[in-house]
Amino acid sequence: MELRIVVLPGDGVGPEVTEQAVRVLREIAEIHEHNFRFEEHPAGGAAIRRAGTPLPDTTLNACLAADAVLLGAIGAPEFDHLPSAEKPEAGLLRLRSALGGFANLRPIVSYAPLTPASPLRREIVDGADILFVRELLGGLYFGEPRGIDARNGDSSAFNTMRYSVGEIERVTRVAFEAAMRRRRKVTSVDKANVLETSQLWRQTVTRVAADYPSVALDHLYVDAAAMHIITNPRRFDCIVTENLFGDILSDEAAVISGSLGMLPSGTIGGAVDLYEPVHGSAPDIAGRNAANPLGAIASAAMLLRHTAKLKNEPADIEGAIESVLASGYRTRDIATGTAGHVVSTREMGQLVIEAIAECADMRHAYHAV
Ligand code: IPM
Ligand code: MG
Repeated sequence: MELRIVVLPGDGVGPEVTEQAVRVLREIAEIHEHNFRFEEHPAGGAAIRRAGTPLPDTTLNACLAADAVLLGAIGAPEFDHLPSAEKPEAGLLRLRSALGGFANLRPIVSYAPLTPASPLRREIVDGADILFVRELLGGLYFGEPRGIDARNGDSSAFNTMRYSVGEIERVTRVAFEAAMRRRRKVTSVDKANVLETSQLWRQTVTRVAADYPSVALDHLYVDAAAMHIITNPRRFDCIVTENLFGDILSDEAAVISGSLGMLPSGTIGGAVDLYEPVHGSAPDIAGRNAANPLGAIASAAMLLRHTAKLKNEPADIEGAIESVLASGYRTRDIATGTAGHVVSTREMGQLVIEAIAECADMRHAYHAV
């Protein structure tokens, strides 16, 4: 299999974690005799420093010509003073919109060895396995008009939340298709008691659900969902929700897996799929070889599953992550409350690679018998 992957290391810990994800992909390519080609480009704050803009044309064009994009993290405090349209994050939003992926998949699982790393009690998180399907191209992130009005010495700022039936329908279908391959339950999260966008959301989701009679649907208001996610996470299978709610709830749900550093994501449905760990640029620990690369590595596994349609390769990566955790290795963010052995970003990457190689050896031995 041939894959052209554009890597956008981005800001903060982005370069450190994507480096490990790329090493893992190279290992997979070698074992399974695939040809993965990597091309690196600047994005976000790193691109502002080099090219004066968070998404240079060369970066965007390379992404549009790729089979998939693997991104590290975007955002740097030195650009906080810039207007929204010039911030590193604006480059990310422009990229998301140009690539066209509207469904952002964020799986959140409680790994048994990491239950002590969660601030939630073990009996609450044990066995939790949620797939967030976050709408990624609509809502307040992209709605127009938006802006700041400065008049008569008083300022006001405004954003627009707007959703069309088509936008709601397409992301809903992704959630139901995913639920068919999981535990056949979709929870739609909205604020239909207050917002018109949510009323349309609820009606549309309900109508689409009729096409999937074997999948159970329920609706929750976002405030109640926020509570149920951390009090009873096992009640959820797939959660489908609009852009901002999905952003907020997925960070909250990260405490189930012990750390934001564990979470991968993949954005599908557009011309080019985009994979990025959910964690941000974490400027406080950037450059210290301390960040958790597992979210980025698991994002690479998602790339192989969703874009390359491979089965064994992503399973090997995920199996390797589990085995490394079961052996007690922890980056700092997941070391709390566990008796694990604390390792660096690079060491964690190396451990995953070794576990993948071991697993491949075992498969060989098995076939030889
Ligand atoms: C995320 C991030 C981004 C978002 C930021 C960096 C723009 O928080 O992917 O969850 O809000 O979508
Ligand atoms: Mg976020």
